[in-house]
Order: sequence, then C-alpha cells, then structure tokens
Amino acid sequence: MKKYHYPQLGLVNTRAMLQQAMEGGFAVPAYNFNNMEQLQAIVLGCARSASPVILQVSGSARNYIGPSFLPHMAQAAVDLARESGTAIPIALHLDHGSSFALAKECIDSGFSSVMIDASHHSFADNVTLTRQVVAYAHDHDVTVEAELGILAGIEDEVIAEHSTYTRPEEVERFLEQTGVDSLAISIGTSHGAFKFKLQPGEEPPPLRFDILEAIEKRVPGFPIVLHGASSVTREHVEMINRFGGRMDNTAGIPEEQLRRAAASAVCKVNIDSDGRLAMTAIIRKIFAEQPAEFDPRKYLGPAREELIEMVIHKNTTVLGSAGRVE
Ligand code: G3H
Ligand code: 13P
Ligand code: ZN
Repeated sequence: MKKYHYPQLGLVNTRAMLQQAMEGGFAVPAYNFNNMEQLQAIVLGCARSASPVILQVSGSARNYIGPSFLPHMAQAAVDLARESGTAIPIALHLDHGSSFALAKECIDSGFSSVMIDASHHSFADNVTLTRQVVAYAHDHDVTVEAELGILAGIEDEVIAEHSTYTRPEEVERFLEQTGVDSLAISIGTSHGAFKFKLQPGEEPPPLRFDILEAIEKRVPGFPIVLHGASSVTREHVEMINRFGGRMDNTAGIPEEQLRRAAASAVCKVNIDSDGRLAMTAIIRKIFAEQPAEFDPRKYLGPAREELIEMVIHKNTTVLGSAGRVE
C-alpha cells in the first residue's frame, strides 16, 4: 500500500483540537463514515457550522471502503471544506483499532489519529498494547486514544455490571504508564441504535456523571472521549417505521445529557448510529413514495442533505463545536 504522512493530505492530529475543546467547554464531533456521501455530508455540515471535525472509520469500515481509497477521500474532504469557504481542521481517526498491526497500517497510510481499544483485556495487557501503539504513533506525530472500562447499557432490564464502568482509581496509573493523548471512558453509554428498552413515558437512566467527575478530579485538563453518544433521533426512527422499516422500542442518549458532557472534560463525542438512521429514513421514504425511482443520486443525494442538517444541528445545539473555527 502507498505510504502517506497525514500533513501531506492536509490533515491535522487531534492534539490542538481537543485542547481547544477543553479550554472552550465544548466537544469536537467524531462522526463515522463508510462511503462518499456520508463523508461529504459530515465535512459540509462541519464547514457550514465552522466546526473542527474528526472523521473516523472502524476497521470494518476501512475494509468496506478499501484502504487505498481512504487517503484520497480524506484529501478530497480537506479540499471540499476549503472550496466551501471554511478551511476547518480535519483529523482522520481509526475508531476501535484492535491491534498494533492495524494501527501501524493506518498511521503509515495517512491517518492522523488512532484508537487502540484493548479495554476488554486485563489492565496490564491494555497498558502493554497501548504503550506499543503510542510509541509508534508519537514517532509519527499521530495522536492516540485508548479506553478504560467496557461500554455497556441496559437491555431487557438487565443492568450492566458496575465493573464495566471505568474505575477512576485506575486512570492516573494508565495515563502515566501509556502516555496516551485521550481516554475513552464508560459511564453508561453503549453502541448502536438500541441502547435502552423503555416502557412508554419512561426516560433513559442518566449517565454516570459522578464517575466522570471523579475522573476529572484525578486528571484535571485531560481530554476524555465519549463513545456510543447517538441520541437515536425519534424523528428518524419514526420515519423508518412509517416507511416499511422495523425498529421497535429504541432509545439513545438525550441531548441534554450530551450537552452536559460536552461542557465537561469530554472533548470528543462519537456519533455513528444517528448518521445511519438519518440516511436510512430518507432512503426508505423515497423508496416508498417513488417506487419507480432507481437512480442512486435521487435517493443518496437527499440522504446526504439530511445528514448535513443533522451534523449542523448536533454541532450547533448539542456539542457546542459550531463557530469555533475562525
Ligand atoms: O463503534 C463502532 C462504530 O459504530 C463502527 O461500527 O464496525 O459497524 O463500522 P462498524
Ligand atoms: P453510536 O452507536 O452511539 O453512534 O456510537 C458510535 C461510536 O461510539 C463509534 O465509536
Ligand atoms: Zn465507539
């Protein structure tokens, strides 16, 4: 595979953007993408709202796109933002990296930031693997995110064990021993569109801000990352169900909780599912209302527009990242 170092592509690492978020009391959005339309929508939504952005791909998304496409897509994203009139800082980040080999491949092919997710291993093994990635990444001025605690949630009224939440007393030692640049924590969010199963009228349980505050006290000013932060937008779920989909009893993280997190040491907020729901809702609507339509531009185009609006909404009213780029 062809080698790139991220500055060649016009990308930046996440160091300055997370620092700015910490000082400014907001969170940088980290949106996942799998294809061209998602990437364009994220970049245009962030450029139009003058927000820095972390573009992130999971290992499986990277395989789906094709690793050799990614540096070119990232470079085109930088150009797209510039051409739209706002040259926002853009990072390309590996989400949930599972091995040193994958992190190295990404760093060697133009990623500016990587996550090594070894949180399901023992503390000692998590430290060992994270340290190895940090050493290679920092040699290339690439930033590293690691994780302590395992994301879980509540399904069928089975409450995640307390032990899956991040243990604040482990954080300082982990940061000292690894030299990592940011830390993903587990405080009650979970991945996907089915975070909570609620009875009618019931509210999702609040995030564990007590754990977040205990961590902030131990490592003041250190950038914290919140995964599993989709709100599972009701409007999109209803549209999906109205036009032939079947997503029963879904619920995500209320925007109010995310606003509170974004104002704290949480400097990066990960959103994937909400983007998927936005595009799927519009595509289902068009398929149902215009059954003879078969030009992909006629449904992917409007889906892209919907995602742009979603990104602007989140940056402006939830994360506070809008208007942070001069
Ligand atoms: O946290 C995981 C992201 O939502 C990516 O999921 O592996 O299906 O691309 P994926
Ligand atoms: P959601 O599934 O809540 O969008 O979380 C995405 C995420 O954490 C990606 O790493
Ligand atoms: Zn995640």
